[in-house]
Amino acid sequence: MPLQIAPSLLSADFLELGKDVAMLNKSADIIHLDIMDGTFVPNISFGFSVVEPVAKAARIPCDAHFMVTNPEKWVDRCAAAGVSMMSFHLEAAGRKTRSILRDIRAHGMKAGLAINPDVPVDKLFPYIGAADYFLIMSVFAGFGGQKFIYESLDRVWELRQRLLRKGNGALIEVDGGVNEGNAAALADAGAEILVAGSSVFRSEDPAKTISALRNCR
Ligand code: DX5
Ligand code: ZN
Repeated sequence: MPLQIAPSLLSADFLELGKDVAMLNKSADIIHLDIMDGTFVPNISFGFSVVEPVAKAARIPCDAHFMVTNPEKWVDRCAAAGVSMMSFHLEAAGRKTRSILRDIRAHGMKAGLAINPDVPVDKLFPYIGAADYFLIMSVFAGFGGQKFIYESLDRVWELRQRLLRKGNGALIEVDGGVNEGNAAALADAGAEILVAGSSVFRSEDPAKTISALRNCR
């Protein structure tokens, strides 16, 4: 499967969102939407007042990454908005994880399970089969523009080996500090979806950067 690039709108210019979505429709594979509640992470981003119009204008799949406590509250609304991929954090969901994954799928969306860099990757293993994709954070969730944590490569590799052994087709998404300098190593380790915020939106030519990331190998 070719590498898919999911630019994160968190680093876009919010006064120009319409233009950015139009640019992503032409050049990206997925639009990544970071939803933060100020409780699960020490930052607030945006909510449905942004997600809904973006999903409506999007011609490519929207991927909502919930960095919130009680993610189960938002499954209905996310599906109604037209989001096609919804992920949440294992750390936030705990025992509710399996039922939330089931609910996301029941709403016709792809179900994603995310972990921060301090959560052992084997904590994801019990959910193989229950999730459509796994989101390995390569920075601590909360802010764009942080430095890539290199140990993430080993975590991606470990999960990829496990998925292969199980014959499971779940995708691996990596999020945080992704740029042209680490994209190829991530793809080699087994990542199929790369989220990129600042490396795309802070570049001279975002569409060109997206294509460079996609063709990094
Ligand atoms: C961080 C978010 C990321 C972030 C990525 O909490 O989940 O999606 O926007 O931004 P960069 O690519 O700048 O690290
Ligand atoms: Zn994200």
